[in-house]
Amino acid sequence: PDSITVQELANRMAEKGADLVKALFKMGMPVTVNQTIDQDTAELLVTEFGHEIKRVSEADVDIRHDEDVDDAAHLKPRAPVVTIMGHVDHGKTSLLDALRGANVQAGEAGGITQHIGAYQVTTPDGSLVTFLDTPGHEAFTEMRQRGANVTDIVILVVAADDGLKPQSIEAINHAKAAGVPIIVAINKVDKESANPQRVRERLLEHELVVEEMGGDVQNVEVSALKKTGLDKLLDAIALQAEIMELKANPDRAAEGTVVEAKLDKGRGPVATILVRRGTLKVGDIFVCGAESGRVRALIDDQGKQVKEAGPSMPVEVLGLGGVPMAGDTLTVVENEARAREVAAYRQSEALKKRTVQAPVSLEGMFEALA
Ligand code: GTP
Ligand code: MG
Repeated sequence: PDSITVQELANRMAEKGADLVKALFKMGMPVTVNQTIDQDTAELLVTEFGHEIKRVSEADVDIRHDEDVDDAAHLKPRAPVVTIMGHVDHGKTSLLDALRGANVQAGEAGGITQHIGAYQVTTPDGSLVTFLDTPGHEAFTEMRQRGANVTDIVILVVAADDGLKPQSIEAINHAKAAGVPIIVAINKVDKESANPQRVRERLLEHELVVEEMGGDVQNVEVSALKKTGLDKLLDAIALQAEIMELKANPDRAAEGTVVEAKLDKGRGPVATILVRRGTLKVGDIFVCGAESGRVRALIDDQGKQVKEAGPSMPVEVLGLGGVPMAGDTLTVVENEARAREVAAYRQSEALKKRTVQAPVSLEGMFEALA
């Protein structure tokens, strides 16, 4: 960044902001701690205070996840993250409700899912599975793509009476692009017009060969309505997860992905975070996309306050400075100065991108008018 606030600079130099303001005043620059100064002035101040100038490259300001790899010895088994995808009305939310013993579907506006729901289910054998529900309506392509990118396994829900539809195929493509294994749940088999065999045949056209046809794709016939086939589906997930040997280091600073985020009237900015590694705790200081914050409260999928959230757990995080974007990464950092530095850097980068892009689109507009 080519400018910095006096306070930021003071933090980085471990000096008092007021002392810097005083020095700047002597240099003929009356500013407050919240005002920004340019790079030359900052460098002058740094030497004035007897510090060494260290120009950090831009890459050093941001967090380098690529260099931060967990030692294999610290990895512990974690719950699989399973994203439910499929065409609109094929019964994704109903199936998840049946698995959870809940009733989300009945409370949805028009019976249509318009966001990503995140839940943890304890299976009969006592293991945990994290489920993400996605919308099937064609307008929500981006959410499905995001769902495919944070998950270990995709459950493709296909209604046996309706067969493969455009968003079923879209879901297959998202899963393939993300390199994620697919388990097919053929739903609504209770219906008179159900034809599960037809679904299995149509899957071949998309290179999904089910086990009965000599392939390795698991498929399970279920009815979310009659609650049949659910144990078999959970078994299929457990089998797939076992092959994948999913692990994460729970004993480190947390890192997670924003599944969704919103501005809540009473609670302020709220983000649903899927913890990827480490353990997120109340009081942790973090950067989340271009926002920084301190965890004020963590709320689990049952609406209960929790003190911490480990790998694969979805939690609502309160205490953000602003609303981050879905897909952003939350990273716990050592102190507030670091959190603010990274957030400010990302905000200025985002601003740069916007100012660079604006004239281009204007030009396009004039062309269109001519
Ligand atoms: P979107 O999220 O909008 O894409 O829909 P969805 O895939 O979540 O479908 P949802 O669970 O909302 O179910 C759609 C309709 O199918 C509802 O009326 C359900 O009651 C019905 N339905 C779901 N599962 C079954 C089933 O196994 N059998 C029958 N007969 N109906 C089902
Ligand atoms: Mg739904």
